[in-house]
Formats: sequence, C-alpha cells, structure tokens
Amino acid sequence: MYTKKEVEEKVRARVSLVINAPEYRKEFAHLCSSLNFTREDIANAAVIYDVYLDDMNNTKYSDMAMRAAMRALFLTTGSYHQKREQTVLDYLKKIKPASVCEIGFGIPTKWVRELALNGGVRATLIDMDSSAQEFSKVSLDHFDVNEMAGNYINYETMNMDDLQYPGDFDVYVMMDSIEHTKDPTSYLRMLTAQSKETARFIFSIPIGLVGNLNEDFHYIEWATDDAAKQWLNKAGLKIIDQRKAVPNPEVDLFIHSLNKSFHNLLLLCEKREALS
Ligand SMILES: C[S@@+](CC[C@H](N)C(=O)[O-])C[C@H]1O[C@@H](n2cnc3c(N)ncnc32)[C@H](O)[C@@H]1O
Repeated sequence: MYTKKEVEEKVRARVSLVINAPEYRKEFAHLCSSLNFTREDIANAAVIYDVYLDDMNNTKYSDMAMRAAMRALFLTTGSYHQKREQTVLDYLKKIKPASVCEIGFGIPTKWVRELALNGGVRATLIDMDSSAQEFSKVSLDHFDVNEMAGNYINYETMNMDDLQYPGDFDVYVMMDSIEHTKDPTSYLRMLTAQSKETARFIFSIPIGLVGNLNEDFHYIEWATDDAAKQWLNKAGLKIIDQRKAVPNPEVDLFIHSLNKSFHNLLLLCEKREALS
C-alpha cells in the first residue's frame, strides 16, 4: 500500500518516461509549443487524473495539459488504456464501417490514427468542450502524412446533456463518457431509438464505484458487469462481444485510490431488433 505522496512520485516518473522517450519526445515537444504548456504542466495534470480522483470534475478536461496527460497515460506500456484503445480498434476492424461517431472522445485514440487518418473511415468526433477538438487537430497534425486527412475527420462540439441526436452513423463509440452526462439513460435511449437499425455501439464502461456521483463528474455507476449489461439491454441493445480492461497497479496508478475490483467493460452491441 503506497501513500498518496509515493503514488504521486510514481506518476511523475512514469509520465516523464513517456514524454521523454525517443519515440514520443518530438510529439510532446510539438504539443507543448503549439498549445502553450510545459512538460511540468503535463505531469501536474497526470497527478490530478491518477492520484486526486476526488478532485476530478468535468471541467478539468478543458485544460490542454490534462488532454496531453491523457495521451501520455494512454501511451504507457502495459496500461489498461492500451487494452481499451486496442479493443475499440479491433472491433472497428471487424465491423468495417464507413462512418464512426465517437461521443465524449476527449483525445483522438488509436482507431482515429489507424483508420480515420488514412481515409479508411469517416470519423465524427464529438465532445462538449471545444478544447478536445483543438487538442485533436494539433495532436493529429504530428502524424499527418496524408494531406487529405482533414477531409476524413469531422468535429462537433455537442453536450450530451442536451439529448441531441448526433446523426446517422454505422458505429457509435463511447469510451468512459456516457456516465458523464446528467441523464445517461435518456441519452442512450434517444441514441438507440433514433439510430439506424444496423447501427453498432462500442462502449468502454467503468465497473466499480468511483464516487463523485452527481458532483459534475459521474452521474451513474455500475457496481458489477451484469448491472452495466442489464442497463444497456433495457435501453434496447444486445451485447455481441465483450472484453475486460483491468488496471495494472504498476502503471495505472489511479487504482491505488479505488476499489481493487474496478475495471472497464468493453462491449460491442447492436440494436436488439437488428436484422441479422
Ligand atoms: C473521462 S473523459 C473520456 C475521454 C476518452 N473518451 C477516454 O476514454 O479516455 C470524458 C470526456 O467526455 C467529455 N464530456 C463530459 N461530459 C460531457 C457531456 N455532457 N457531453 C459531451 N462530452 C462530455 C469530457 O470533456 C471528456 O473529454
């Protein structure tokens, strides 16, 4: 059992390892100079994300350094974030959609770089905060070898609280996002009711009690995998594949402040009435 101070030191050391690694150093230098923050700001944001979870709320994501911290955490070898990113990519490769909409995307993840940047799918990335869009454009700029790439990625600033239908897409991706809207059940029901019969849905859902419920962070929580699956089922979805992303205590250091059974449930769903 580590003290908060010890976990904080570990987070700083780990972030430093990623952002100074030969393969990522240039990317983080590009983010820092373009978006006007320092490497120290990234480490400080990672400490909030990983150690002071009780301080987290939905406005903290608007800090650009927080989005860079997320990128650093997602790049950490052996992290549960890598399992989340890879599973979404695997599901999309299996589905082979023409259009994908990610809601509450936060930062562009692996599927955006591997499938959307080269025109493999048309991506629509939605977040309530325009900083996500600004960060994403700068971040992807670093990888942009295809001058047409901008044509395949569309951004929308949209708040799930408004219960507005994002439009028709082949796949909707929601990674750790639906629990952040004030009425997750109504949002999901609206999406399942209005989307195409053939639409697919990919979720990464936190399982385990995180706290901060109704304090502008999470507005719903699921104690068990079954509770989350039943919730999706009642909203009109059928689960067609599932995987788990389990935090690695060596690198997913936030797990030291949470119940050890916390994990993410990764689910591929279709509409219950979907024709096979
Ligand atoms: C926990 S982060 C998840 C980011 C990323 N999808 C991931 O898996 O790590 C939640 C994201 O949802 C966005 N968000 C929070 N509440 C929202 C809302 N009501 N409508 C749209 N986006 C929201 C935040 O700005 C943030 O980028």
